[in-house]
Amino acid sequence: MSQQQKAESCSYQLWGGRYGSQTSEAMQALNISLPQDARLYADDLDASKAYAEALQRAQLLTEQECDLLVKSLELIRYDWIERTIKFLPSDEDVHTVNERLLVALTGEVGQRLHTGRSRNDQVVTDMKLWLRKAIRETLGRLRALLSAMAAQAESQLGVLMPGYTHLQRAQTVQFSHWLLSHAFALREDCLRLSELRDRSNILPLGSGALAGNPLGIDRVWLAQRLGFAGVTGNSMHAVGDRDFVVDFIYCCSMVSLHLSRLAEDLIIYSSKEFDFIKLAESFTSGSSLMPQKRNPDSLELLRGMAGVITSSLTGMMMTLKGTPSTYNKDLQFDKQYCFQAYDKLAQSLDIALGVVQTMKVQREQMELALSPDMLATDWAYYLVRKGVPFRQAHQHIGRVVQLAEQRGVDITEVPLGELQQICAAFGADIATVADYARNVEQYECVGGTASSSILEQLRLFKNYDKELRQQC
Ligand code: ARG
Repeated sequence: MSQQQKAESCSYQLWGGRYGSQTSEAMQALNISLPQDARLYADDLDASKAYAEALQRAQLLTEQECDLLVKSLELIRYDWIERTIKFLPSDEDVHTVNERLLVALTGEVGQRLHTGRSRNDQVVTDMKLWLRKAIRETLGRLRALLSAMAAQAESQLGVLMPGYTHLQRAQTVQFSHWLLSHAFALREDCLRLSELRDRSNILPLGSGALAGNPLGIDRVWLAQRLGFAGVTGNSMHAVGDRDFVVDFIYCCSMVSLHLSRLAEDLIIYSSKEFDFIKLAESFTSGSSLMPQKRNPDSLELLRGMAGVITSSLTGMMMTLKGTPSTYNKDLQFDKQYCFQAYDKLAQSLDIALGVVQTMKVQREQMELALSPDMLATDWAYYLVRKGVPFRQAHQHIGRVVQLAEQRGVDITEVPLGELQQICAAFGADIATVADYARNVEQYECVGGTASSSILEQLRLFKNYDKELRQQC
C-alpha cells in the first residue's frame, strides 16, 4: 500500500519505522490526545502553512510544492469546519490528522512538510497561537463585565450602604464604591493577562525535537510571519516549556477567585436578612421542596467554579514538577488543564455579566441598614479636626459608644453635656456628623468613597475600556 493510500484509509502513524509490533489497545487509548487537541486544528494549519513557506525560503521545497501544500492545508481547514473528517483509530493527535490528510491530498510533497520540524516544537507553537486568541477573548469578556459594572456604579451614584470589614458594619460607603472595588480586582487580572500575552509571544518553532534546526530555517522570518514578537532563545527550553500555560491558568484562577468573592458578597446581600440586591429570576432557581425559595445558584456556581479552575492550576503544576528537561509526554496533559480553565472561566464570566446587568439595587433597604454606631469613626475624625490626637479621640468615642450601649441608646442620643464631660472638644456642631450622605463626602482623597473620588474611578474605567477595546 502506498503512503497516500495508507493516509486515507486504515492507519497513519508519524512514527513506527523501527517498530515490529502494534501498540497495545490500552496504550493507544491513553496515548491519544485528539479529543482534547482537535480544537488546535486551525493553529496547527496556520503554523504548518508558515512552516511550508519557511521550507521554500530555505530551498527545501519548490515554489509549486509550497503552493500545493498551502492550498491543501486550506482545503483541510474546510474539512474541519464542515466536520467531514473521518477520524481513524491511529489518529493520535491533531498533528497526525492534519499530516495524514495532507499526505492524502498531496502524496510525497506532503511528506516533506515535517522536514526539520518535530511535534515537540509544533505543539508548543500551536498552543501559543491558541493562547493569543484565548487571551483576546478572555479580555473581551472581562471588558464586557467591567463596563457593566461601571454602568451600574454610575447609575447608582449617591446610594449609600454599610461597608463591612470582618463582615461587621464598619463605615458608610457608596454602593458604587463597593461595586467598583470588585472591578478594580478584575482590572488587575486584565493587566496580568495583557502582560502574559506580550511576554509569551515568542516563537518556539524551529527548535526541532530539542536540538534546534539544522536546515537553514529562518526563524526570525517565521516569527514575523506568525505575528510573534521574537524567537525563543534555547531550543531545549522551548520544547519543554509550559510555564506560559501555568501562567495563563493562574490568570484564569485569579479571575475566578475574584468572581467568587463578588459572588459571595452578592449571595449575602441578596439574602432576605440583607435584601440589598434582588437577583433577576433568570439567574436564580427554586427548590424542589420549598415553594417560596429563590436560590442564588448562579452565584454559588460561580463560587464553586473557582475551585474547578484552580484545580487545573495545581494539576498543571504537578504535571511539570519532576519532569526531566525538554519534552516528555506528561506535557500532553497541558491541554486538558488549559482548556478546562479557559472554558470554565468563559462560562463564569458570562454568568457574572448577566447577574450584574440584571440585578436590582434596593436603595431603600441599604440605607435603612445604616446605623449610628457606624458614625463612630467620623466622630473620632470630628475630634481630630478639633485638635485632639487620634489615639485619644478613639478612646473618647469608645467611651461614648460604651455609655450609649449601657443605656440602650444610639451615640447620637447621648446629650451634649455628657459628651463634653468625656471630651471638652465636643461642640454643638457634632450634630452635623450624623448625616451619612454628608459623611461619605469627606472621603474625597484618591480612592475614597466621596462622589468626586468615585467619578474619578469611573473615569479611569472609561479610559481603560478604550485601552482594552484595542486589545480585544
Ligand atoms: N500530542 C503531543 C502533545 O500534545 C504532541 C507532541 C508529541 N511529541 C512526542 N515526542 N511524542 O504533547
